[in-house]
Amino acid sequence: MTRVSKRVRDVPFSGIRKFFDLVAESKDVVSLGVGEPDFPTPAPMKDAGIQAIEMDYSAYTSNYGLLELREKIAEKLSKENGLAADPKNQILVTTGTSEALDLAFRAILEPGDEVIVPEPSYVSYNPCVWFAHAKPVSVPMREEDNFRVRPEEIEERVSKRTKAIIVASPNNPTGGVQHKEHLEGIAEIALKHDLTVISDELYEYLIYDNERHYSIGSFKGMEDRTITINGFSKAYAFTGWRLGYATASPEIIENMMKIHQYIMLSAPTIAQHAALKFTESRRYTKDMVKEYDRRRKLLVAGLNDIPGISCITPKGAFYAFANIKKTGIKSEKFAERLLKEGGVAAVPGSTFGPSGEGYMRFSYSVSRETIKEALERIGKFMKKL
Ligand SMILES: Cc1ncc(COP(=O)(O)O)c(C=O)c1O
Repeated sequence: MTRVSKRVRDVPFSGIRKFFDLVAESKDVVSLGVGEPDFPTPAPMKDAGIQAIEMDYSAYTSNYGLLELREKIAEKLSKENGLAADPKNQILVTTGTSEALDLAFRAILEPGDEVIVPEPSYVSYNPCVWFAHAKPVSVPMREEDNFRVRPEEIEERVSKRTKAIIVASPNNPTGGVQHKEHLEGIAEIALKHDLTVISDELYEYLIYDNERHYSIGSFKGMEDRTITINGFSKAYAFTGWRLGYATASPEIIENMMKIHQYIMLSAPTIAQHAALKFTESRRYTKDMVKEYDRRRKLLVAGLNDIPGISCITPKGAFYAFANIKKTGIKSEKFAERLLKEGGVAAVPGSTFGPSGEGYMRFSYSVSRETIKEALERIGKFMKKL
């Protein structure tokens, strides 16, 4: 006898959560597991948050979010992303990018609709699609392609029920960055088959080696069929403040706002006041990215020095997606043994979709000392294997 709906019961708990319950039980563990910045929130944002508390800014804001913040976001989107968004009705401030994703799916999907999800992908996409009574359809991204999409494979999966395609660049867990031509390929399919694109751009600034970030919503014909989602978590070490935003056509944003209005009312007020200082905090982001880059080089070189492991150089985010296929061990088992026998926590690639089998996600949002210690332990563990 259960009081929980079948639809919710059928959705598995996040593999990351499951794994970290195991980590919590273990002693002397070096963790390259979690995907969140280890830096403090930039001082201008922190100070603005403190000031907002002292000013007693503790009431709800507009359902859409503070107009002043929406205006600043609109300016950023126009300058940096080539997206023209009216702050009055084309930007919705949300409780993290997470809420924006959920609202996007719920606003556009009918029961039985399909959403094409290139994978390995962030763990929330499939469950959010399921919660919206729709069906995710996987399409693989491969190491040999630097984990970029093959647009022709996306098109092969388009059916009468396809409603949307997810674009996530830079990608969690692979660190893959889509080039302009890949995004153009997706845009072409969206236009041909009248689909919506949901573009998760949360790692936009975490990009290396002169790679460039493109917003697919700025491509010709895509402005009204793209929901661009972004937030402050990764770029501004802002995860716990819980703030994100979405921009799309007035019709989509108004209907996402309708759901948000009933379930959330408004995004956290103190966090919105802190976020007003995001432009002033960009120099902190630049310093963080420089440090992530050093860690990235250290981790990737170190992994490639360990016999049995290989790792392509990720171009974005803060994850290395290492190939462990030579060990012949499934990634979940590998993660469990690495934790118990090697004292290192990392996330099995299979958590992120079937194409993640045979890989491990190592996060480099930790200090270089931690990375060095982890590499030493992984090396010893692999020798014993
Ligand atoms: C690709 C991606 N999208 C969205 C999120 C959710 O971020 P938040 O809700 O903190 O903005 C994450 C968090 O790890 C992520 O990796």
